[in-house]
Amino acid sequence: MDFILRTWRREDVADVLRYANNEKIARNLRDAFPFPYILTDAQEFVNSCVEGDEDRQLCRAIEADGHAVGSIALFRGSDVYRLTAELGYWLAEEYWGRGMMTRAVQQICQEGEERWDDLVRIYAEPFAHNTASRRVLEKAGFALEGVLRHSVCKQGRIWDSCMYALLCR
Ligand SMILES: CC(C)(COP(=O)(O)OP(=O)(O)OC[C@H]1O[C@@H](n2cnc3c(N)ncnc32)[C@H](O)[C@@H]1OP(=O)(O)O)[C@@H](O)C(=O)NCCC(=O)NCCS
Repeated sequence: MDFILRTWRREDVADVLRYANNEKIARNLRDAFPFPYILTDAQEFVNSCVEGDEDRQLCRAIEADGHAVGSIALFRGSDVYRLTAELGYWLAEEYWGRGMMTRAVQQICQEGEERWDDLVRIYAEPFAHNTASRRVLEKAGFALEGVLRHSVCKQGRIWDSCMYALLCR
């Protein structure tokens, strides 16, 4: 499945609203990504991507079939974590299982390393039961560094999360 990573545009709000409003996506993300996902959520999300400072965050739309069908981003840390970036992503359900996110992760990590030449580490923290996301990270070369026991409270339940990281250069 062909796709490109590109910067966000304000007209992507309709696609975000259409594809992000999915409980199967929300259940695997932080509560900042709600379900139901309403128009103001999509507007605020796209605004934050369009207006974001690219010295701090690289936010990219995953465009396939002429639509923004997913999101992938790197967010730089601050203070002692300033040489580290956190990776986050989601994809519209109808595009799952085609290898797209594995390739998207590889692409954004490469872009992050090129743009921020002092970057030393990229990490992601999937919930431990998120097998698909863990597999994506493993296929993209991330190493499992540990299980953060009982680190997450989601939908009223306590879950473990996993620390995956890729060292740069
Ligand atoms: C996680 C997500 C991004 C994966 O995207 P994707 O494009 O389908 O991922 P890929 O096709 O590149 O790879 C998925 C891998 O997980 C595997 N997989 C998927 N569901 C699985 C399951 N329930 N059990 C075991 N493996 C599973 C696939 O078989 C594939 O591995 P393979 O290539 O070895 O067969 C997508 O499912 C999603 O958006 N989920 C909701 C949001 C989310 O979880 N975001 C990440 C938060 S950390």
